[in-house]
Amino acid sequence: MSELPAMNEQLDRVEERGLAELREVKDEAGLQAWKAAHLGRSSPVMQVFSKLSQAPKEERPAIGQRANQVKLALESAFTMRSQILKEEALSQALQAERLDVTLPGRTLAPGRLHLETRTLREVYRLFGEMGFQVYRSPDVETDEFNFGLLNIPEYHPARDMWDTFHTTTPGVVLRTHTSPGQIRAMREFAPDPIRVILPGMCYRYEQVTVRADIQFYQVEVLAVGRHITFGDLKGTLTQFARRMYGVDVRLRLRPSYFPFTEPSAEMDVECFICGGKGCPVCKQSGWLEILGCGMIHPTVLQNGGYDPREFSGFAAGMGSGRIGMLRHRINDIRNLWTNDIRFLEQF
Ligand code: PHE
Repeated sequence: MSELPAMNEQLDRVEERGLAELREVKDEAGLQAWKAAHLGRSSPVMQVFSKLSQAPKEERPAIGQRANQVKLALESAFTMRSQILKEEALSQALQAERLDVTLPGRTLAPGRLHLETRTLREVYRLFGEMGFQVYRSPDVETDEFNFGLLNIPEYHPARDMWDTFHTTTPGVVLRTHTSPGQIRAMREFAPDPIRVILPGMCYRYEQVTVRADIQFYQVEVLAVGRHITFGDLKGTLTQFARRMYGVDVRLRLRPSYFPFTEPSAEMDVECFICGGKGCPVCKQSGWLEILGCGMIHPTVLQNGGYDPREFSGFAAGMGSGRIGMLRHRINDIRNLWTNDIRFLEQF
């Protein structure tokens, strides 16, 4: 009796069942189990091969051929299924770990110098080229150096110009300007000629506004020697301002008053914002004040150890924060010392 129809039907079912079960396989372990069950030595299709010899001789080729087809079909289905599962596993892993190795790495932001530091260094450089050295003097001063020796006696109304932070030690204050450094430099160098700049933080007990903070950097300029005139003052400061703000900058010297200089002046630059027409930043004047200056008062020269009949000199004091603000059009001075990285990293 022919076994062929029954055998073919059996192989059809082996194939069907194999493919159906493969579709349910979800992972690598399932794949291996499925492979053992459906393609392993004791799997139905392999059993057909090993029992082939028991079939009638003339039917063996047909049975063998059909069994081979089923085996190949199961094998290629297995390869495809494992491929699909591998891809699924990869995309699931990518999703879960959110790691995209093709993304560029995170750049580490290199540090940078504070805007004020950069402005100061430029000021040092420009004055350095004119022969000025940097001279340091203390942030904490005595009343005598901050006021008295600068020709501002105790009850002089000019003391109202600087609202002072006093310490708990009587007579010790936070310097309100860098001018006390003039006395310290003169006392160190007298009777030699001097050309120094004195940078440093100053402190004033003031209302904080967009233009004024309770602490700010000043740079004091000091030149002492024989035959120093107001022309030297004007030439030096004009040269500095042109290098700092550009050769075309318009400048003016306006008479002013300071107890430690005589005559005294303030230097203005044309307002960068409105070009001199008048705007809220320059209070409609068209000019912005950048520094105070003057010829050193004879009493101050004397306090510094120089004979005013023989020596003369000039001094100036400027707020370096103001310089940075003008150059970068910063409209709020408070930004300089609130340490907001979003502001600082723009420079
Ligand atoms: N010390 C003055 C101030 O703080 C500025 C100044 C310095 C003026 C030197 C004249 C000479 O306002």
